[in-house]
Amino acid sequence: MAAAIDRARLTEALATERDLFVSRHPHSYESSLRAQRHLVTGVPMPWMTRWPGGFPVFFEEARGAHFVDIDDNEYVDFCLGDTGAMTGHGLSQVTEVLATRARRGITTMLPSTDAEVVGDELTARFGLSKWQFAMTATDANRFVLRYARQLTGRPKIAVMDWCYHGTVDETLVIMDEHGNTMSRPGAIGPQVDPALTTRVVPFNDADALDRVLSYGDVACLLMEPALTNIGIVLPQEGYLEKVREITRRHGVLLIIDETHTICVGPGGCTKAWNLDPDFFVIGKPIGGGMPAAVYGMTDVVADKLEPYLRSDGVDVSGVGGTLAGNALALAAVRATLSTTLRQEDFDHMIPLATRWTDGVREGYERHDLPWHVQQLGCRAEYWFCPPPTNGAQAAAAINGELDAFMHLFALNRGILLTPFHNMALLSPFHTEQDVDAHTRVFAEAVDVLMTA
Ligand SMILES: Cc1ncc(COP(=O)(O)O)c(C=O)c1O
Repeated sequence: MAAAIDRARLTEALATERDLFVSRHPHSYESSLRAQRHLVTGVPMPWMTRWPGGFPVFFEEARGAHFVDIDDNEYVDFCLGDTGAMTGHGLSQVTEVLATRARRGITTMLPSTDAEVVGDELTARFGLSKWQFAMTATDANRFVLRYARQLTGRPKIAVMDWCYHGTVDETLVIMDEHGNTMSRPGAIGPQVDPALTTRVVPFNDADALDRVLSYGDVACLLMEPALTNIGIVLPQEGYLEKVREITRRHGVLLIIDETHTICVGPGGCTKAWNLDPDFFVIGKPIGGGMPAAVYGMTDVVADKLEPYLRSDGVDVSGVGGTLAGNALALAAVRATLSTTLRQEDFDHMIPLATRWTDGVREGYERHDLPWHVQQLGCRAEYWFCPPPTNGAQAAAAINGELDAFMHLFALNRGILLTPFHNMALLSPFHTEQDVDAHTRVFAEAVDVLMTA
C-alpha cells in the first residue's frame, strides 16, 4: 500500500520551518512591516503575499540562476519570476541595449526599427506570419479574444478546466460537477456570470470539446498545449490533432498560449509538435525580464482583421494600450530572442530538468509516496498524486500545508521554487550542482515528514 503523510508531523515540521525562516530573515521582516504603512497588503502586488513564511523575502540582487536577499542569504532560483526570467537574470546583452535605448527615448507612439526585426524573428520561431505587441500576456490574451469574437460574430469563448491565462475575466472559470461554467475559486468581482461568456471543457477530452463547440456560439478555444498552471498535465497521444480538427469543423478559432510552454524549445510546442493555431500568444520570458508580450496570427486571420484595425475607430477598439509596443520593450524582445532561448540553450536546460526530475522521483519513491513528477522541456513539477489527465484531477490533490512545507523547507536551505506550483525552471545559467542541491534538500524534506 502507498505511504501517506502524517498530518500532525506535517503541522509540527511546518511550524519549525516558519521559526527558522523568521530567524534567518530579520531585515526582510522589518521591511515587510515598514511596507505595510502605505502598500495594500504590504507588497506591491497581491500574489507576493502568497509566500509561505508569513512575509516575503526581499531580494537585493539577482544574476543568472542565483539571487541574494537583503539578509545576505544566497539562493538558487528555480522560480525565475514564474517564467518571466527564464532566460536567467540580468542578461548583460539585454541590459546594455536597454540602457542605450532608454537614453534615446522610450515612449513616442511611433514605431522603432526593432519592430520589423522582432516580427521576422517571431515568424521564424513560431511560424505565424503577422504580429502585434502588448505589455503582458494577460493583455495579449484579452486582445485576441476580442478579435476572435469580432471575426466570428459569436459571443462566447472556450477554455480548459483549471486553465490559467492571466487575469482575463472570461478565463477565470472552472467546470462544476454538471459540466457548467462557474467562477474559479478565489476570483473576485466577476463582471458578469462567467457562464455568459465562457464554456469550459476538460483537458484531454476530445468528445467533450466536440459537444461543447456544437452549440455554435463559441468564437475561439484558448488553450495551453500542455496545462502548466495546475501542475503539468501533458496532452495524450493524438489529442492536440483532434483539437485542431474539431475546432476547424466548428469554425472555432484556435488560440495557443505558449507563455509557459516555450519551455519545450525555441519555437514552443507550436513548432515542436507541429500545431497549427489561428492565433498565438506569448509573454513573460521574451523580454529577458522586461514586461513585453506578443500575439501572432495567420495571414488569413490578419487579412480579415486589418480592415477593422485601419478604421477610424481603432483607438477605442478595445485593443492596444498607450505603452504597448514601446521602444524599450521592443529593444528588450529583440535583444532577448536574438541571443537566448535558442536551441543551444535548451540543449543545456532540458537535460538539467531531466536530472531535477530524476532526483525528485528518487526522493519520493524511497518512501513509497504516491506522488509524481512531470517534465516538460526545461520545466518540471512534482504533485501529490499519480499523473492526472486533466485539471480537475490535479486540483483534487492540492494540499496547501504540504505545499507550504516543501517550499519553506527549500527556501530555508537556499532554494526558491515557484509559488502556487512545485515547479522548477532551468535556465541557461543553472548547473548540475544547483540541481543536485535541490535533490538533496527535497530528499531531506521528505525524510523529515516520513521518519518517526
Ligand atoms: C499560460 C499563461 N498565459 C498568460 C499568463 C499571464 O501572464 P502575465 O501575468 O504576465 O500577464 C500566465 C501567467 O502565469 C500564464 O501562465
